[in-house]
Amino acid sequence: MGPALTVASMTTPAPIVSATDRRQVRRIVRGEAVITAVMGASLGVAIGVRRLVMRTVQTNEPGRSVALYGALLWLAEQHRLPGRLLEIGASAGLNLQVDRYRYLVRGRPLGDPESPLSFAEPWDGGPVRDPWSVQGTLAIAERRGCDCAPLDVTTVEGATTVLSYIWPDEPERLVQVKKAIELARRRPICVEAAAAARWTKERLAERHTDGLTVVWQSVVYQYLGDAERRDLDLSMEEAGAEASQQHPLAWVTLEPTGDHLSGFELSCRAWPPDATVVLASSGDHGPPVRWYAGASSSDKSSRTIGCPSYSTGATIVPMAVRITQRELRNESGEIMRALDGGESFVVTRNGVAVGELVPLRRRRFVAADAVLAAFKGAPQIDAPRMRAEIDAVLDQASEPRA
Ligand SMILES: C[S@@+](CC[C@H](N)C(=O)[O-])C[C@H]1O[C@@H](n2cnc3c(N)ncnc32)[C@H](O)[C@@H]1O
Repeated sequence: MGPALTVASMTTPAPIVSATDRRQVRRIVRGEAVITAVMGASLGVAIGVRRLVMRTVQTNEPGRSVALYGALLWLAEQHRLPGRLLEIGASAGLNLQVDRYRYLVRGRPLGDPESPLSFAEPWDGGPVRDPWSVQGTLAIAERRGCDCAPLDVTTVEGATTVLSYIWPDEPERLVQVKKAIELARRRPICVEAAAAARWTKERLAERHTDGLTVVWQSVVYQYLGDAERRDLDLSMEEAGAEASQQHPLAWVTLEPTGDHLSGFELSCRAWPPDATVVLASSGDHGPPVRWYAGASSSDKSSRTIGCPSYSTGATIVPMAVRITQRELRNESGEIMRALDGGESFVVTRNGVAVGELVPLRRRRFVAADAVLAAFKGAPQIDAPRMRAEIDAVLDQASEPRA
């Protein structure tokens, strides 16, 4: 079968195929050696190829569970309530299996030790001081997901579709996703076919017994239109306004930052009160996840809080390590040293935050030579032009002074 072969030179087209369809198929296959080879099979196959070419890319990356699992531990430590996990844009639902994977952290396993899928040392630092004890309090009572085009990996077609979106030069990811599929086949989770905003609104309207509701999304925001984003934000805010200590709500997002070079950002917006915390940065497909707080982050400077580009109306608060009254008493020496080193703490009593320990801001002397060296490569400033530009937008009037 030569690459010059096109649909036009093939067998009689099936009656269901319109002239427009044939033209489109011809356009897609012409010059594509691989697809024209497939075309040798039948026109039906060619049409199938066209359907696949037209699909948008739809990864489902279980490596992102590495970030989600930490976020769930962080929430579990605060609330100690059973959780309801709702994922939007869940694809095949592989991240809804989050607690059924194994995570090897500082040589000790977390999650399910028997899981076929294991992530070795995926964290830098940690979301909580002692994830091994906190995982005992993590209980996912319900897990549900939606997607506008859900994939079912219990079928050959669904599994092949998920695997087909992995780059061929990433064989480790291929192995990991196959293991996640193996687990999903043993413990299937049905992802509902629904649009993100509407489904979330419906789920949040359902009344439940006491428990934490976690809405989770990874790499979904960019696919939503403006109207759907607004509806989603509104549904979350309305449900947030109704949230209480018995029914807290958290919206955990793992999304690309505005700056493509700085990877992904894991954030949590939680009610009550309405506060957003940037928990970690991560790679596109999960590991490595660098926690901004926790017991042993090796890069303290990375705790700088960034503002998620898509968040509306939330307050960004610096992340503080939560400690119990008992920890404050028993580990006061270590806590004072950490405070001296710039760390902040929230002290809890019976799981409820009651106070903060925040370091005093000290003035730091920086030698003039160091400042000059730091600005050595800075661009030259045209002083008269800069003054003129400032004068164009500001004036010197001192009134009114509010
Ligand atoms: C890049 S994939 C990410 C999948 C999964 N969250 C992950 O991280 O592996 C984006 C997913 O969002 C889904 N999606 C896009 N627009 C959507 C919408 N309006 N409502 C629900 N799902 C949507 C796509 O079908 C796709 O499965």
